[in-house]
Parts: sequence; structure tokens; C-alpha cells
Amino acid sequence: SAAEKGGYDYFMLKEIAEQPRAVADTLLGRIGRDGRLSLDEMHITDAQLREIDKIVIIACGTSYHAGLIAKYAIEHWAGLPCEVEVASEFRYRDPILNSRTLVIAISQSGESMDTLMAVRHAREQRARVLCICNVNGSTMPRECDGVLYTHAGPEVGVAATKTFLTQLVAVYLIALYIAQVRGTKWGDEVFAMVQLLATMPEKVEQVLSTMGPVRELARSLADVKSVLFLGRHVGFPVALEGALKLKELAYMHAEGFAAGELKHGPIALIEEGLPVIVVVPPRARDVLHDKIVSNIQEIRARGARTIVIAEEGDTSVVPYSDTLIEVPAVPTLLQPLVATIPLQVFSCELATAKGHDVDQPRNLAKSVTVE
Ligand code: AGP
Repeated sequence: SAAEKGGYDYFMLKEIAEQPRAVADTLLGRIGRDGRLSLDEMHITDAQLREIDKIVIIACGTSYHAGLIAKYAIEHWAGLPCEVEVASEFRYRDPILNSRTLVIAISQSGESMDTLMAVRHAREQRARVLCICNVNGSTMPRECDGVLYTHAGPEVGVAATKTFLTQLVAVYLIALYIAQVRGTKWGDEVFAMVQLLATMPEKVEQVLSTMGPVRELARSLADVKSVLFLGRHVGFPVALEGALKLKELAYMHAEGFAAGELKHGPIALIEEGLPVIVVVPPRARDVLHDKIVSNIQEIRARGARTIVIAEEGDTSVVPYSDTLIEVPAVPTLLQPLVATIPLQVFSCELATAKGHDVDQPRNLAKSVTVE
């Protein structure tokens, strides 16, 4: 009913709008007054965390994209090697796991059969298995050694939105917590990041308040055949997520690439008028930033219509952007929390313009309980 949707036409719109609150709720009670993290619910002792020598993340779909971003955060802050794999592939090879491996399953529903079977496989190999989950008391939290709930509230729309942002918050918390327990060369940075995380609900709110032009852009592109997404570093999984949203909601061809891979093949796809959405890393990452700015120049010279997501005040991209979408300036690792939102709004609006029901896209179920 309209009341359940809080006055919005679709649950997805409501859930996108709820993101500042959802992010705040994921942080709630986990940052102490002294700025130290406590994640007791994970049921892993400091001694056990010090024993871990590798982290393996398993997940599907959007949750897998959260896992890809987690890898950057964990390797940087926690200094542990981290692998990420789609859950449906995991147990069909011979993953090397033992009691010093920490496996993290990421699943909104806690019921995806592919992820559940991977969890069981990991436990059989004696790995310690944690999950990041949104649904209290679902199957995965019951079968894992520990759980970090995202507390995003129920998500009805088939497309994951607020649960993705809160999964990101959860993986940042875990990476920073491991750094806190094990010690890291980034001690001061870890402390500063925890403080910054606490400000993210406002940044998310700020992005939401500037989405009018993104909606307009989406409506103007309702008839295009294909959209490409480019990113680097954590912007690469953001690009993959943007493409997945567009496929599932607008039934359009969409692909995400690591911008550095363009020259190895995908640049051949660029033709006159093809919309390409590019996630630009913060200017502070000068080398990456400048490389992606030259990618934007290259594709534009070949006729692409460039839609650029960059931090506010980044004037270097202005000459090469057909459309510029500004997001608040945040450290690179946290940028997915702000850069993903325009992509959610874009695909939701474009699909709606095509007349699709964004809450119930064809052929899809909210949780996939078969392998
Ligand atoms: C996301 O928009 C999709 N509906 C889908 O990829 C989803 O993320 C995937 O099926 C995993 O679900 P889970 O997080 O509940 O395990």
C-alpha cells in the first residue's frame, strides 16, 4: 500500500531515501566515546583475530560488490591478504582454507543458497566464518561463528540499495577493528577514519539532496541501448554495482570496467553518443585521479557522452564532462558510500521512465534460495 511505501511510489525510492538513517543505525553503539570500536557480536576474541593470516570473502550480486570494496579496506587498514569470490564458484574449486583463515560471508537476506553452501564448505575446512547480514535470525547468522548485523531495516525492493551502503559500513568497521586489535602502521589514520565514518550519514544526506539533475539525465537516456561504467580502485566495484542496477531494473545492456583495462579491449566499444559513467577517485589520489581523467579525454575524443562522478570542487574534469555529478569530498576508501547513490537513483529513474516496476523486476527474486 501507499502507506507502507511511506508516500513514495516504490519501496526502492523509500529505501534509497532511508540511507542516511540506515548508515547511522549500522554505526550505532559500535564506536565508543574514546573513539575505539567494539564489535563483540562477532564472537571472535582478540587472540583469535591475531592468529588470522588470511581473509576470504564470499557473496553474490550486490553483496559481492561490497566484498570487492572490503578487500581494499582490509588489505590497507588491517594489512591482511584478502580474497573475494562469488559464492557460486567457491566450493567448486579447491579453496585453500584452514583454522587461520577468516571467512566473511556477506548476505543481505542470510538465505542465498550459493553463499550458504559456501559457508558450509568453509566451516568443513575448519575456517572461522563470520557473516554480515541484514535479516535477524536468518539461516546464515545461525550457521556462522559470528555475525555483524547491518540494521538497515527491512528492504522490500528487489534491488539492494540501503543494504549495500550498510554492508560497506560493516566492512569498514571490521577492517578498522582488525587494525585496532592487531595494530597497524596506520594507527592514526585508523582513529581518524572511525571519526570520519561517524560523519557519513550527513554526507549521504547531502548526496540525496542533489539528485534532481541525475533524475533528469536518466529520463533523457531512457532510449539508449547500452551504458558503460568505469572506475578505478574502489570506484571499480562501484562501476560494477552501477551496471548491475541498470541491468536488473532497466533490462539494459550495461557493463562495468576497471578504467585501466579500457585500452586492453573495451575501448573498441566506444562510439558516437554512447553514455559512459565514470567514477573519479578523489584528487588526493593524484596518480589514479590523473589517469582516469586521461581515460575520460580518450573516450570523449572517440564520441562517448561522458557522465562524470567526481568530488566537489574537482575542476580538472569540467572540460571533459558532458554531465558532471558532484559528490562530497571523502577519503578514497569511503567514496563508494557517496558515489554509489547517484547510480542507484539513475537506474531507478531510468527504469521508471521505461515503465518498469522497480520493486519487482522481471525474472528476479529478492533472495535466491536455490543454487
Ligand atoms: C541486488 O540488487 C540483487 N537483487 C542481488 O544481486 C543480490 O544482491 C544477491 O542475490 C545477493 O543477495 P543476498 O545479499 O541476500 O545474499
